[in-house]
Amino acid sequence: MSEEQKTSPSRKRPTTDEFRAFVATGWAPRDTGVTPRAEVADHAARRRDAVSAAFPGERLVVPAGGLKVRSNDCDYVFRPHSAFAHLTGLGSDREPDAVLVLEPRASADGEAGDGHEAVLYFRPLADRDTEEFFGDSRHGEFWVGARPTLADIESELGVTARHIDEFGEAVGKDAGQVAIRVVRDADAEVATRVDKARAAAAETQESAEAETRVDRQREADEQLAAFLSTLRFVKDEWEVEQMRDAVDGTHKGFDAVIADLPEAVRRGRGERWVEGVFGLHARHHGNGVGYDSICASGDHANTLHWIKNTGDIKDGDLLLLDAGVEVDSLFTADITRTLPVSGTFTDAQRKIYDAVFAAQEAGIAACKPGNRFSDVHAAAIRVIAEHLHEWGLLPEGIDVEGTLDADHGQHHRRWMVHGTSHHLGIDVHDCALATREEYSDAELKPGMVLTVEPGLYFKADDELVPDEFRGNGVRIEDDILITEDGCENLSAAMPRSSDEVEQWIARIWDGAEA
Ligand code: GLY
Ligand code: MN
Ligand code: MN
Repeated sequence: MSEEQKTSPSRKRPTTDEFRAFVATGWAPRDTGVTPRAEVADHAARRRDAVSAAFPGERLVVPAGGLKVRSNDCDYVFRPHSAFAHLTGLGSDREPDAVLVLEPRASADGEAGDGHEAVLYFRPLADRDTEEFFGDSRHGEFWVGARPTLADIESELGVTARHIDEFGEAVGKDAGQVAIRVVRDADAEVATRVDKARAAAAETQESAEAETRVDRQREADEQLAAFLSTLRFVKDEWEVEQMRDAVDGTHKGFDAVIADLPEAVRRGRGERWVEGVFGLHARHHGNGVGYDSICASGDHANTLHWIKNTGDIKDGDLLLLDAGVEVDSLFTADITRTLPVSGTFTDAQRKIYDAVFAAQEAGIAACKPGNRFSDVHAAAIRVIAEHLHEWGLLPEGIDVEGTLDADHGQHHRRWMVHGTSHHLGIDVHDCALATREEYSDAELKPGMVLTVEPGLYFKADDELVPDEFRGNGVRIEDDILITEDGCENLSAAMPRSSDEVEQWIARIWDGAEA
């Protein structure tokens, strides 16, 4: 169904005044009840306060981003930029083209320093006598449903709401007196508008070379984006609840996949079946999957980001399922379990699995305040290296007293090329704009959530490993909350050890769970 039916006059939308009047009337009055304040509103306000304190007196522009064409007149499902979602509390598919502006308040003496007013510019619900109501397939109520009004957003989020049409003028107001920063990657059109406002202001001022000025502005924009990314390192209690919910939904999705494993084997192209079963539960429980599910059977598990999911699932193989539910607030789980498709690991598979499990236990044990983020990887990779050494696979052995760092050749990394951990939250790889000092080298703090996900990957064509290892890849991934005195495994309810995984499968297949 498309907006324009170019070839058939009988299907062309009527444009007469008579039709406009007809389509605008005869509807029951709209619900004018007050939209309740969202639970997230106070948390989002605290986050904005932190931003306000870091950039006093500056206009801060945080776009949601726009709709992206999938093909012709069809768009992808909208997902707001993560910084926008974090600072407004708006999740799921809200609100395309919206822009949050933190507008500096002038104090009585006209100086900066009284914080910022949060103003959300967006496209509110159009009246029924507008073209948009029935004729706009991207935004109109007939096509995509009713939108919130300005009053709805003010009462839901506790911010000032304005029509998006006012944004253009507002962003350039007093641009000569107020510095402006924008999260550029969220919306190129908004970034261009900000650039124009700055350029117009510069023309009226004695200013440095245009090129230097633009470079400085880009740098200022990058600082804002990095600040907003690192603001998400420590989760507040509401965010931790979101993570628990995401993990809970993911557990249900994994249970459903296990229940359907025999069907996935029977059908052929079982990886796609698994992707669909998990996706059904993700979409039902929350907003959807937090990233494309990796449903990798047999040798496919050795392709780290195997998201084609075109393969069969065969009895006797391992199925590596790396999948996470993203809840409506956009917080996502990121969990991997490696399941024996027959219900039981072979001896070789168990040997690999138990090595990865031991590495994960070591990694989780290193998750505590005061330890550095990089200590988690160091602890896990040491266990991986020790097992590879014990199996005679490392040409130079390992220096068990050493640091296993790059100076030691790191031959073990052939079989686990990825890192052990990343921060997790609204982005599956959260806080990604942090510097190395802020991320890998930084101390873990209560409220941080990170994955611990070691693995061992033995490709089918790897001639350096024993025959029985080839074509098997194992990863175990859990979502770990750093607490005051250690950590809590948020996904601990999902069985991890080889024995527990077999029992989990057996329980579900026996009908005791599902
Ligand atoms: N699912 C992507 C990752 O584990 O990082
Ligand atoms: Mn991960
Ligand atoms: Mn993962």
